Amino acid sequence: MIEVHPCKSVEELRDAVGAITHYFARDRPTEEWAERWLKNFELERMLAAIDDGKIVGGAGAFSFKTTVPGGAAVPCAGVTVVGVLPTHRRRGILSSMMRVQLDDARERGESIATLFASEETIYGRYGYGLASLNFNVEVPKGMNAFRPGIETVGRLRFVEFDEAAKLFPPVYDAVRAVTPGMFERSAAWWENRTLTDPPEFRGSSGPKQLVVHEVDGVPQGYAMYRLGGEWGDFGPESVVRASEVMAATPQATVSLWRFLLDIDWTKAATTFLLPVDHPLFLLLARPNQARPRLGDGLWTRLVDVGAALSARTYAGEDGIVLEVRDEFCPWNEGRWRLEGGAAARSEDSADLSLDVADLGSVYLGGFTFRELSRADRVEELVQGAIDRADSVFRTDVAPWCAEIF
Ligand SMILES: CC(C)(COP(=O)(O)OP(=O)(O)OC[C@H]1O[C@@H](n2cnc3c(N)ncnc32)[C@H](O)[C@@H]1OP(=O)(O)O)[C@@H](O)C(=O)NCCC(=O)NCCS
Repeated sequence: MIEVHPCKSVEELRDAVGAITHYFARDRPTEEWAERWLKNFELERMLAAIDDGKIVGGAGAFSFKTTVPGGAAVPCAGVTVVGVLPTHRRRGILSSMMRVQLDDARERGESIATLFASEETIYGRYGYGLASLNFNVEVPKGMNAFRPGIETVGRLRFVEFDEAAKLFPPVYDAVRAVTPGMFERSAAWWENRTLTDPPEFRGSSGPKQLVVHEVDGVPQGYAMYRLGGEWGDFGPESVVRASEVMAATPQATVSLWRFLLDIDWTKAATTFLLPVDHPLFLLLARPNQARPRLGDGLWTRLVDVGAALSARTYAGEDGIVLEVRDEFCPWNEGRWRLEGGAAARSEDSADLSLDVADLGSVYLGGFTFRELSRADRVEELVQGAIDRADSVFRTDVAPWCAEIF
């Protein structure tokens, strides 16, 4: 009989996270790793699945505050390090852990949960919907020109860890405040996750480089990148690997990207996880040559439909009644009237009927009801309801989470 309970010790944490590190072909996490991890993670939020006294699986959640449309930062379970050892797969262990985790998130008052999925087939059954798309680019040196008339402004300079820890967070926060899907980073997060550069994180690339962009001495953006340092038969073939480029103004976007694209001794600049509305695509003279590859981004689950819908803002006041199906979290099932920015249980007949996972897809603004309808994922019960719902849910900024957690 398999039991699931919150970890009570660092040893249990290391074993529970060991289930996922198994698949990354890495050793069981070290004590040093656990110490760093616990600067941003509450021990009891790591669930362990135990068979005959041995930990065989784990699932964790960060306590996030995540931006929703309109700018509110709502309590959110940031689901992470989920794994079940191959000796115990397909016996329902993941389902048991998801049960405990979502019940716990609800008790904590977290109205949403988000995650990045290793495989898109896993989380829909637990009510998670694909909520944002990301694209990766690889811009070759010879194809990296901007369209004519685009000028860089301000200055760029390298900074050390301590200065970055002061200058970068306000830039991140300015972007976060207007971007659904981004979560608050504590000072410990910056120190132990964003800026830290232990050699084991470098892979085959060099040290993490930290660059700030300033106009009249005021930081407007920053970039973090590594150089690959590759050398070919005919000369340098290094690749710029940008892990995070954050720009609070268009000037910072232009200047940081021009800088990254032009670094000498490189044959290309790459980055991943860009939001679908990222301006790079409009800046490049030859966007196709950036070899954009589109993929899934954040997955979102409404843990408490009423609280989640009431937490975001809307583009219209029109009333909409949604019939929500939610097998895994039945407390959400039923009809919800959304009106004047607040959602409440309703006895009125529904305008639209959909699964909670599909509501998760539209919640942050990454997809529309019309798009759901084209994929046969929402039922229009009253003619015109899809258009009405889209005019109410419309947002201006694509959801984006700038890092995989
Ligand atoms: C994905 C993983 C956690 C699943 O754990 P598990 O204990 O085998 O899952 P369960 O037995 O609880 O499966 C529950 C359901 O999900 C399905 N499922 C589980 N993993 C799946 C996958 N990778 N793809 C498609 N379906 C999957 C099962 O078939 C089952 O379906 P059913 O309810 O219709 O019978 C485990 O296989 C694993 O650790 N994989 C590698 C690491 C990984 O991908 N972790 C997730 C990180 S985001």
